Amino acid sequence: QRYRDPTAGEKMNPFAEQEAWEDHQIGKATLNFGSKNKRRMSDDYQFVFEDQIDFIKASVMEGDKFDEEQTELHEQSKAQSALEKLQAERKTLPIYQYRDELLKAVHDHQVLVIVGETGSGKTTQIPQYLHEAGYTKHGKVGCTQPRRVAAMSVAARVSQEMGVKLGHEVGYSIRFEDCTSEKTVLKYMTDGMLLREFLGEPDLAGYSVVMVDEAHERTLSTDILFGLVKDIVRFRPDLKLLISSATLDAEKFSDYFDSAPIFKIPGRRYPVEIHYTKAPEADYLDAAIVTALQIHVTQPPGDILVFLTGQEEIETAEEIMKHRIRGLGTKIAELIICPIYANLPTELQAKIFEPTPEGARKVVLATNIAETSLTIDGIKYVIDPGFCKMKSYNPRTGMESLLVSPISKASANQRAGRSGRTGPGKCFRLYTAYNYYNDLDDNTVPEIQRTNLANVVLMLKSLGIHDLLHFDFMDPPPSEALLKSLELLFALSALNKLGELTKVGRRMAEFPLDPMLSKMIVASEKYKCSDEIISIAAMLSIGNSIFYRPKDKQVHADNARMNFHAGNVGDHIALLKVRSMKRARDIRDQLEGLLERVEIELVSNPNDLEAIKKSITSGFFPHSGRLQKNGSYRTVKHPQTVHIHPSSGLAQVLPRWVVYHELVLTTKEYMRQVTELKPEWLVEIAPHYYQLKDVEDSTSKKMPRGEGRAS
Ligand code: CDP
Ligand code: MG
Repeated sequence: QRYRDPTAGEKMNPFAEQEAWEDHQIGKATLNFGSKNKRRMSDDYQFVFEDQIDFIKASVMEGDKFDEEQTELHEQSKAQSALEKLQAERKTLPIYQYRDELLKAVHDHQVLVIVGETGSGKTTQIPQYLHEAGYTKHGKVGCTQPRRVAAMSVAARVSQEMGVKLGHEVGYSIRFEDCTSEKTVLKYMTDGMLLREFLGEPDLAGYSVVMVDEAHERTLSTDILFGLVKDIVRFRPDLKLLISSATLDAEKFSDYFDSAPIFKIPGRRYPVEIHYTKAPEADYLDAAIVTALQIHVTQPPGDILVFLTGQEEIETAEEIMKHRIRGLGTKIAELIICPIYANLPTELQAKIFEPTPEGARKVVLATNIAETSLTIDGIKYVIDPGFCKMKSYNPRTGMESLLVSPISKASANQRAGRSGRTGPGKCFRLYTAYNYYNDLDDNTVPEIQRTNLANVVLMLKSLGIHDLLHFDFMDPPPSEALLKSLELLFALSALNKLGELTKVGRRMAEFPLDPMLSKMIVASEKYKCSDEIISIAAMLSIGNSIFYRPKDKQVHADNARMNFHAGNVGDHIALLKVRSMKRARDIRDQLEGLLERVEIELVSNPNDLEAIKKSITSGFFPHSGRLQKNGSYRTVKHPQTVHIHPSSGLAQVLPRWVVYHELVLTTKEYMRQVTELKPEWLVEIAPHYYQLKDVEDSTSKKMPRGEGRAS
């Protein structure tokens, strides 16, 4: 229970419709959902059914080869009118009226802060205006986004508006995926990717304009970019720098960039009615689902946007909703459920932007991505449970965790605003007015103050920036966090005692990975198993999705995974994993290219498991754990009780010593991706980090002496 509300039970707010809204408990009683068994059976049908659809589609295509010419003509004119329609739409955006004024301001000032409501057209239009005004004749226009999905979807939209193929004139670049070409003049990318471009091109010579978009998000990469681009504009007078933000808190950006002028795009914002719950909700997910269905049944047309915290939660909500809708019978209008989160396959992302068919209603289940990064038209109702997943970092232990935390007032207001873009809207906050005024912070703490900085420190060091304590941060990170990352990089032999980059560190910096992963790869040279290690790194980089476990096919997925652990990879796993495997393959190819760049030979040594494990240990030795009598583990350096994640192949084996990839906190603190190790390796590989006394076991008195450090 995060919220405590002394006024719970009092009627806080006099809005109309409040009654209907508070009645949602009634809706709860009548909205039923089917039994578990029933669900499973229908899923089996669905499985077969999907194959049949593919089969049907294939046969239709076979028979469809007639009249190709006519179809082509038809397609052409259809594309033409679609383009015209998009051009007309562009002119209706709030920013359009200010096009010339904006271009003049960009012409007159080197650095400009641009502020405008979400949906006013900043991200999609400004780069196009700059292109039309000739800025792309002498370089690219780069536009950064904090999120992968936003970079991809915005680039796709702009390429449509310009009538060009995505990846040609308009492209995007995200980690491990470069969809640009020689032709590309408008480049959307994650802020992290632009940061990496500094390594190859420290003055960003290929760009005529850099637009740091969604600046208010204050991601770690954006904050570091601020410092770097601020420096560049001093010696590149021809470079234009735009800082764009959705919130009015722009003075801070202006002050930081030596009083750069602020260009405000007057917003078109309709009134939004805010509704609060009377008492705190015990189960916000259930409350959100009930509220959405209640809106669907009782409120006039308009789409619904629900803010949830992550993929898992969104999938759960989708499943429950589908079943409850079935329980509502056939008299109810169609409700189209559209999930959107960072790992959603690209093909499925497009669905949220498709206009809602007449008579139906769309409910978008989104993470924070829909707060300001993506604009979805037609939203009239917003449901805000008041939470998001937030990274937090403990500099003392060096542990990072992702926790569901209350949002800030600024976030809550952004969320509410999403309902009033095209007409008056309503926002349902699943918390009390008292919570809003008294418990929520005004603003979200910038990421730089709550994250592990090892990655960024390594990057800044490789850019030749040594004095990190005096780097021009907009908000400086806590100095303990900086020290902690220097310590880690020293332990990984990326920095020497003076804090200077070593050869190992220089090689590590070439990989767009966390330092521990990069170190594992660099160390594989010594153990002659680089081939296997980059495969492992690629698999780890795509995260959990390798064992894709769609909510509605969990049984299949789990069976498939069990087969996998038993050593016989079944057909199911191949079927289920094709997409993720392809991505892992792509990442692996790129890592192979990077190996070549740092002159590490690709050597395969599949049978020497000890060599592979030692390479892993070379990167992850700070993550070691020792088995306790009760079956839990104790981390070695900063003692903490942890467990092997139930999905691990070692969950039943419980080896005495392990290294793990990461800790995740769910019901317990779990180690995910676990490998057995011999304690003497720790001393052998990291003698500067572990001493014999750290790894001495009561059962094994004699310990072989370390051979020296791996580097
Ligand atoms: O950046 P800002 O929030 O100011 O607006 P934008 O992202 O440029 O969006 C302007 C308009 O483009 C939105 O209202 C959407 O209608 C449209 N858009 C879209 O249809 N599909 C996208 N992927 C992005 C934008
Ligand atoms: Mg935008």
